[in-house]
Amino acid sequence: MANIIHNIPALVCLFISIISGTYATFYSTSPVGTPPPIFILGDSTADVGTNSHLPLSLARADFPHNGIDFPHSRPTGRFSNGYNSADFIGRKFGLKRSPPPFLSLLTLGSRFKKHILKGANFASGGAGLLDVTGSNFIVVPLSDQISQFSTVRDNLTALIGSDATDTLLSKSLFFISIGSNDVFGYFKTNSTMPPDQFISILVSSYSDHITTLYNLGARKFGIISIPPVGCCPSIRVIQKVINGVDGCFDPMNDLALAFHSALDTLLAGNLSTGLPGFKYSLGNAYRMTIDVISNPRAFGFDNVDSACCGWGYLNAQGNCNQTASVCPDRRKYLFWDMFHPTKKASSLAAETLYSGPPYYVSPINFAQLANNN
Ligand SMILES: *[C@@H]1O[C@H](CO)[C@@H](O)[C@H](O)[C@H]1NC(C)=O
Ligand SMILES: *[C@@H]1O[C@H](CO)[C@@H](O)[C@H](O)[C@H]1NC(C)=O
Ligand SMILES: *[C@@H]1O[C@H](CO)[C@@H](O)[C@H](O)[C@H]1NC(C)=O
Ligand SMILES: *[C@@H]1O[C@H](CO)[C@@H](O)[C@H](O)[C@H]1NC(C)=O
Repeated sequence: MANIIHNIPALVCLFISIISGTYATFYSTSPVGTPPPIFILGDSTADVGTNSHLPLSLARADFPHNGIDFPHSRPTGRFSNGYNSADFIGRKFGLKRSPPPFLSLLTLGSRFKKHILKGANFASGGAGLLDVTGSNFIVVPLSDQISQFSTVRDNLTALIGSDATDTLLSKSLFFISIGSNDVFGYFKTNSTMPPDQFISILVSSYSDHITTLYNLGARKFGIISIPPVGCCPSIRVIQKVINGVDGCFDPMNDLALAFHSALDTLLAGNLSTGLPGFKYSLGNAYRMTIDVISNPRAFGFDNVDSACCGWGYLNAQGNCNQTASVCPDRRKYLFWDMFHPTKKASSLAAETLYSGPPYYVSPINFAQLANNN
């Protein structure tokens, strides 16, 4: 009898300690149950409305048919029919969607403080690793996104003090999705620079940006490399018009591949040895996307070469806007518009980044990055 009674509380305790143990490693800030903030930087693949706050920006998506599958069919500035990868990643970490754009938090007045503890999204459509990338479109380049984060750090320090801010940021996740626009820029300007040299410039710029964030307290980086941009509907159109052939534009894809490999080397080598406590997870957006393009049915897609929303050949000769044609079943398309993935494709990408194998995300996935303290 006595044994049974003693066993019951023991079991309950064990059960609780398993649960709270998991919880504690996952959300390991001091205020019980509060996950650390999430910060997102990058380009249109992660922009959740930053550019809607830039009246002069030419890289905007705050009009229909964008957002057609967002709650209430609302165009929010996301370059998507619904949620994008930043949203699906946010959901994996217990948020309803991505943290809001930093530029929208600035308009909140006294409610700013409450929000900033959950994080912010700085990503801006059209932005690149290089300041020159996207400058014609009026965007927030990565260097300015990092300056904005520096302001947030000041605000957190004012709110909870400097030691607590350091602790909080060391547990925070920093997701960065950028580089495609730099590759587009290289081709758009008919650069005569050898590809190797261009890759070195991009990677050295990435190294500087990551080091700056590290010096501001960031430790955990979830990085998404460049997808096979030469397979975007817009580039397939150019390939057809200029070279008269169907298919992806290989020189662009080669640059994306070379970038991934150079970035992998930088992260595993220089940054891991040079920055104590630096932790990272590198998502191979190239593989994740090319595998879908090579074998669409296996992933539930019917169409991987056309834009769902647009105009003309491959529905990719004009922007997705209110009068553009829209495909009926958005879940069967890889591309929403001539450049960007659908909600379905973004969800699949986030799933893979969060829990995928090293073939797609290495040396650890985003879930392991969050748990790694
Ligand atoms: C955030 O910090 C910046 C820079 O220190 C400051 O100018 C701004 O007023 C702060 N904002 C809030 C809402 O505290
Ligand atoms: C790049 O070359 C193409 C084809 O020769 C030309 O049409 C285009 O104007 C050039 N762009 C720039 C920025 O020089
Ligand atoms: C690696 O680090 C060294 C020393 O900090 C630096 O001189 C070198 O340029 C770095 N290499 C790359 C590829 O960033
Ligand atoms: C939508 O885009 C098409 C093609 O680029 C353009 O001709 C049309 O004027 C645009 N419509 C609106 C409402 O902006």
